[in-house]
Amino acid sequence: MSENTDKSFSERYLSLLDISRELSSTLNLDALLHQIVTAAADLTDSMAASIMLYDENNDELYFHSSTNLDARVMRGLVVPVDSSIAGTILLERRPVIAMNVAEDPRHFEEIGKTTNYQVESLLGVPMLTKDKVVGVLEVINKVKGVFDKDDENLLSALGSQAAIAIENSRLFQQSDLIAEMVHELRTPLASIQTAAHLITRPEISQKQRTNMAETIQKETHRLTEMATSFLDLARLESGRTQFAFDEIDLHEVLKESTELMESRIAAEGLSLKWNLADASLEFIADPDKLKQVAINLISNAIKYNRPKGKVIIGSADKGENVSFYVQDTGRGMLPEHVEMLFSKFFRVPGSEKLAGGTGLGLSISKKIVEGHGGQIKVESVVGEGTTFTVTLPKKQ
Ligand SMILES: Nc1ncnc2c1ncn2[C@@H]1O[C@H](COP(=O)(O)OP(=O)(O)OP(=O)(O)O)[C@@H](O)[C@H]1O
Ligand SMILES: [Mg+2]
Repeated sequence: MSENTDKSFSERYLSLLDISRELSSTLNLDALLHQIVTAAADLTDSMAASIMLYDENNDELYFHSSTNLDARVMRGLVVPVDSSIAGTILLERRPVIAMNVAEDPRHFEEIGKTTNYQVESLLGVPMLTKDKVVGVLEVINKVKGVFDKDDENLLSALGSQAAIAIENSRLFQQSDLIAEMVHELRTPLASIQTAAHLITRPEISQKQRTNMAETIQKETHRLTEMATSFLDLARLESGRTQFAFDEIDLHEVLKESTELMESRIAAEGLSLKWNLADASLEFIADPDKLKQVAINLISNAIKYNRPKGKVIIGSADKGENVSFYVQDTGRGMLPEHVEMLFSKFFRVPGSEKLAGGTGLGLSISKKIVEGHGGQIKVESVVGEGTTFTVTLPKKQ
């Protein structure tokens, strides 16, 4: 909420200049969008502010950030372009002030229902760069009085600054991500190229030929996995992933994830132990996304374990949170490697000899857990093993 009630227009304009300066120095998209919504609510003396980004490919607006609306529930929620106030702002590229929002036929009720938040008055502006609309910035419920022309002008100016900052951050993020991806593609491509070249040579034996065909298969499989994981991560990083929150049973998710891995556990000669809480743990989360996290942790516990080792899966009720852990008796990791663990493409040196992998599994898992408002922690002792613990809030 704002403290700007009694500030003059020029004072507010000066604080807009400060904000613009701050925005242009932030390249992290999440942090940037958070700064924008906070500034928007503050500048216009509103109860809340939110940002919807425009997805050109699907012609959709989707919620990304908000101040005191529940960001996690909102995030990724699609707002129909053809039947919402935000859609009108987007299509007509002009600000809209709406009092009595509940009675406005364009008001998109789903948002109110999802958040239990009563929207009374609303001011929205397009976020425009020179040649395109990046999204819509809205402020909701003016604390005192009604939204006026000054609010509209200030918010429009902030909207344009925000659009440029968002574009910059996306370009930076994309070039960063693409540069890393291209770098990672080089190794499998080089192996395929070499094997494909050698396989045609008359002097090599049938056995060598088979080896080379296997290398080509293995490396193409790896490229496919990289493409899928990379896309997952790019979607999560840009906020384009929509979480399907539902009431779920944690133990069911853990059991289903483990079932998919049982044959691998047996094939590696490992034993599986359960240490689940007595009562079932029901809470709100996206079951498929959570399964993706569990599967990656279990798969790591299998891949980096020692022969005849153990995989232990446990859970606990923590009051407002639930937690689960996946523990292994593997080789463990040095503190400096643990520190790097959630960086994109990071693999502990020597991992490729133990098992295949893209080094993206944990980055994706972390993003998913954080998208639920939770945390993922790791404890590791070299030569003894590693435990990953995920803590998630029960409510979204
Ligand atoms: N339980 C573990 N024990 C020891 N090292 C681990 C463990 N989990 C992860 N690591 C190390 O961290 C790296 C990153 O893990 P991550 O899950 O992100 O990628 P990956 O398993 O290599 O690939 P992917 O998950 O895409 O198959 C692994 O390559 C491995 O070196
Ligand atoms: Mg993994």
